[in-house]
Amino acid sequence: MTTITMARPILIYDNVARGFHWLTAALVVAAFGLGLLVDVFPESWEDGVVNAHKLIGVGILCLAVLRLVWRTGHKPPAALPTGWLLERVASVSHVLLYGLMVAVPLIGLAFATWSGQGINFGLFAIAPLMPENEAVARQIGEVHELAAYALVGLASLHAVAALWHHFVRKDDVLRRMLPPR
Ligand code: HEM
Ligand code: HEM
Repeated sequence: MTTITMARPILIYDNVARGFHWLTAALVVAAFGLGLLVDVFPESWEDGVVNAHKLIGVGILCLAVLRLVWRTGHKPPAALPTGWLLERVASVSHVLLYGLMVAVPLIGLAFATWSGQGINFGLFAIAPLMPENEAVARQIGEVHELAAYALVGLASLHAVAALWHHFVRKDDVLRRMLPPR
């Protein structure tokens, strides 16, 4: 007798939601890494590295806005019944992650603006919007850095939680965000 074990059918996030999710996750890691490692590169690379950091950050902002607009018409699958507390913690952290995905790049744009910097998009460039104000820029820079740590810290806890669901609780939370099998 052969026993065939079939995977349980579950409702998963659709292709677009998964695409937004994993592309954004990769870009956040890249923006954070470049932001922190600017000084590690040779000095002649600094402008290019900072500009790449800004472009990735602007990409994250655009993706977050598009994703939120798209989400209004495409509801995610209903939360799995993991218990009242875990469900509340998950939904509050998702709201915070969305907020930080918008806030960190906006604060970064303010930081660049008060630092007297523009952005080079390759085909066109945006000139600095105002002259440098070092005192204001320093403060906004601190806030940008703290907010970036909050985003990456929360995203790391969120990733650990997803892995805990998958490997310890052995439920379907992570499978919902992976390609269908
Ligand atoms: C989610 C997106 C972003 C993340 C995670 C992020 C993260 C960071 C981090 C960790 C630093 C290093 C802070 C420090 O050590 O002082 C940094 C620096 C910086 N960020 Fe961002 N950032 C993002 C988006 C942006 C955007 C959209 C802009 C502007 C358009 C921007 C402009 C800057 C600038 C000008 C610096 C200073 C680089 C330098 O000269 O050392 N960032 N960012
Ligand atoms: C910077 C990195 C990340 C950010 C900003 C992020 C953000 C988010 C957000 C906002 C949601 C809610 C989606 C929605 O309902 O509209 C979500 C869901 C999810 N994320 Fe992430 N994520 C990141 C990285 C990761 C990683 C590395 C993993 C896995 C190891 C992961 C696993 C999941 C899972 C499983 C869900 C679905 C949760 C559920 O169905 O309740 N995420 N993520």
